[in-house]
Amino acid sequence: MKIIRSPAAMTAWSEGLRRQGVTIGFVPTMGALHDGHRSLIREARLQCDALVVSIFVNPTQFGPQEDLAKYPRPISHDRAICRQEGVDVCFEPTAEAMYPAGFQTTVTVPAIARRWEGEARPHHFSGVATVVTKLFGMVRPHRALFGQKDFQQSVLVQQLVKDLNLGVAIMVRPTVREQDGLAMSSRNIYLSADERHRAVTLYQSLRAGAAVIRTGERNAKTIRLAMAQVVTQQPTISIDYLTVSDPFTLEPVSLVTSKVVLLGAIRLGSVRLIDNLLVAVPHRSS
Ligand code: PAF
Repeated sequence: MKIIRSPAAMTAWSEGLRRQGVTIGFVPTMGALHDGHRSLIREARLQCDALVVSIFVNPTQFGPQEDLAKYPRPISHDRAICRQEGVDVCFEPTAEAMYPAGFQTTVTVPAIARRWEGEARPHHFSGVATVVTKLFGMVRPHRALFGQKDFQQSVLVQQLVKDLNLGVAIMVRPTVREQDGLAMSSRNIYLSADERHRAVTLYQSLRAGAAVIRTGERNAKTIRLAMAQVVTQQPTISIDYLTVSDPFTLEPVSLVTSKVVLLGAIRLGSVRLIDNLLVAVPHRSS
């Protein structure tokens, strides 16, 4: 496995392969790789001839009060996973190479970024959109894989690629979960043993929402209540949002008439967790 740190060397490597007709797959990450990343890497390995994983803790997607400084950076462990999974290039640019002095262009996807995570983290999505655009420009992949765990991010990236004609096929892979259902996340390590035990409440709340939809409930307010009831049974957990939304626009719906996404964010002590479930609604034959 090659470790490339310079953006120019990364592009030269990719361009060389593209000229030979090689299909390049790309999994962008911030490192601290877990089984969720592993599933993206494996899928990309199956689908593409050459595979690049980037490891870059992107400062511009962290707010001033967020965890940039303490974000886990277990680089040897990450490289070992990449080697095990047959990654060809681990791309590890420095912050100075990504954002050199004089850097000024940013990318925004305003409507998708407005709600939910965008409300809690106002600059987060322009940081994500900008770094993903830059990484695509450097890696020049044919396909890029993202996890459904960050649902709003995956919708935003698809919109970005479409709007800017970036020519990268985006694949979104299902969330990988711990045995009890907690969505895998690099930030789960911040949970104390007790918080870890209670963290599954978010998934249980989304499942409760999906269950009432399956029994025929179509009123989003009632569905939201069913989700909230699960969380409020745990007095030390606070709800940031629980919503029934359109899976393409992310706008909340008042009535469920077709596929919806249940999105949620909760706070357990100082840790904020997000998760989501897509729920298909069977068509009623009249
Ligand atoms: O999902 C992530 O890990 C990050 O948001 C991404 C896409 C690598 C951009 O920094």
